[in-house]
Amino acid sequence: MKSKNFFLKILLGMVLIILIIILIRVFLLAPATTEKLVAISDSEYDPAVWGKYYPLEYNSYLKNKEMAPSLTGFGGSVKDQKSIKEPEILVNFKGMAFSKDYTEDRGHPYAMDDLEKTKRVTPATPGSCMTCKTANLYEIYKDMGWNYAKMPLTELLPRIKHPIVCANCHDPQTMKLRVINPAFIEAMQKRGIDIAQAPREDMRSYVCGQCHAEYYFEPGTKRVIFPWDKGLKPQDMYAYYNDIPSGFDMDWLHPDSQAKMLKAQHPDYELASGGIHGKSGVSCADCHMPYMREGGRKYSSHWVTSPMKHIQASCRTCHTQDEQWLLERVKTTQNNVFQLQRIAGQTIARAHGVLGKAGAVAKVNKGELDKARELLRNAQWLWDFIAAENSMGFHNPDQALNTLGQSIDLAHRALATANRAAGTQY
Ligand code: HEC
Ligand code: HEC
Ligand code: HEC
Ligand code: HEC
Repeated sequence: MKSKNFFLKILLGMVLIILIIILIRVFLLAPATTEKLVAISDSEYDPAVWGKYYPLEYNSYLKNKEMAPSLTGFGGSVKDQKSIKEPEILVNFKGMAFSKDYTEDRGHPYAMDDLEKTKRVTPATPGSCMTCKTANLYEIYKDMGWNYAKMPLTELLPRIKHPIVCANCHDPQTMKLRVINPAFIEAMQKRGIDIAQAPREDMRSYVCGQCHAEYYFEPGTKRVIFPWDKGLKPQDMYAYYNDIPSGFDMDWLHPDSQAKMLKAQHPDYELASGGIHGKSGVSCADCHMPYMREGGRKYSSHWVTSPMKHIQASCRTCHTQDEQWLLERVKTTQNNVFQLQRIAGQTIARAHGVLGKAGAVAKVNKGELDKARELLRNAQWLWDFIAAENSMGFHNPDQALNTLGQSIDLAHRALATANRAAGTQY
């Protein structure tokens, strides 16, 4: 009798423990959404249709249309010309489209609008430019593979109905995160990473990295390629470009210095992944898509903007310091980076002029002058890498400052070498 009671008690205890575990799982560790999973059609790109099933995510996505300056004074969602604050941009990008039009980035819903309206687009613009602006890439690439890249953009436009929307990052059937940009998948494959097998934590950065990264167009095919074979640091990519991959030797020839220049494109993923947060496993989504609560439901904010607009949700999940302290830290880093960015940019602008004058001297040592051009190409690549990155150094403060320090040194060496070559003293 006694032992029967004992077993009953154990059984009851076990049932109770299992019940508690189930309750904890249901209420505390519940996945972010409690909305029902519905299979959306593979050809559905309209975010409003997805939004019927996922209203919290959709409503927060709509906030991406808001245009406001940033609290830090850097970045922000207003379409300002960058050359107003940094006129050296006009000299350094002389002879190419970024000197005509180079605006601050804004929310994802504007990506196609801004692409169609920028003065950088001409009838010669290749289809590859839409790779990072629209979810319609998914079906276009399925249809014709990389052949879309060399088609004129204007011919592809009728097939493009939506900007960056849900389908860029989600499989409509399962809602799992996905990467649709073939350039990212290929570049990661070369680094030994299979995106299809990637853990969820990594996908929370990969979905962003598929667009927020440095790239170039392969001559002839116009395929988008991420120059990552030698590594993700600016110096690694510079070495990659100096091997002249598939004959790609420059983006443009600078009209003053006659240096073969490279243009850096928003290497947010590369800079962030080497920073203290990236190395600690903090994903882009942790800061830019923090968890929010509404009516007892937990969801990821789809208002992908400056995290400083919601420091509590974005930073204070991990940091105990108060909001003002965190904002000040970010601003201090950014101010330090901006100061060196201006010094580098201005020294480079001066060097373009001096190399131009040196080139006009009849008895100039051509070999030495070419060395000066190479130094200037390197200096500008490093400056541009940090200037084109979107966080004003916050994503990786020491890498940003180190890169700008090297850039300033290279720019001064370019100046000295040009003067030596021409016997001048500019
Ligand atoms: C730029 C990429 C991106 C876009 C665009 C995007 N999402 Fe997400 N979405 C994410 C990420 C990252 C998560 C977090 C997933 C995780 O951690 O598993 C997420 C999570 C979700 C979830 C799971 C629940 C949650 O809130 O965490 C739903 C549902 C969802 N998104 C719906 C949508 C809808 C609807 C749209 C279009 C209006 C959309 N998403 C657009 C990246 C994106
Ligand atoms: C399909 C390509 C693509 C994907 C995927 C993507 N972005 Fe973007 N992102 C862009 C483009 C293009 C812009 C600039 C749009 C404009 O200015 O018209 C942009 C703008 C932004 C901005 C500036 C918004 C503002 O208010 O100023 C932030 C922040 C941002 N993206 C972060 C992210 C994060 C974080 C992810 C992943 C969760 C992500 N992006 C995924 C292409 C992408
Ligand atoms: C630790 C938090 C954190 C992580 C992780 C992070 N960011 Fe940021 N990001 C920031 C902060 C802070 C800023 C500066 C915002 C400002 O100046 O208002 C910023 C700025 C940006 C901007 C420019 C926003 C604007 O207003 O123009 C983009 C784009 C961006 N990040 C993309 C990314 C991408 C892509 C990743 C992942 C590869 C990433 N971030 C990872 C905190 C983070
Ligand atoms: C998921 C956790 C997580 C989130 C979210 C997060 N951080 Fe951090 N942060 C860390 C870790 C880990 C470190 C490394 C140092 C440490 O262990 O304290 C760090 C370091 C820092 C540092 C010192 C190092 C440096 O690079 O200057 C600052 C400043 C910082 N974070 C600011 C922020 C801000 C601002 C945000 C929000 C935009 C943020 N963090 C969001 C985890 C996080």
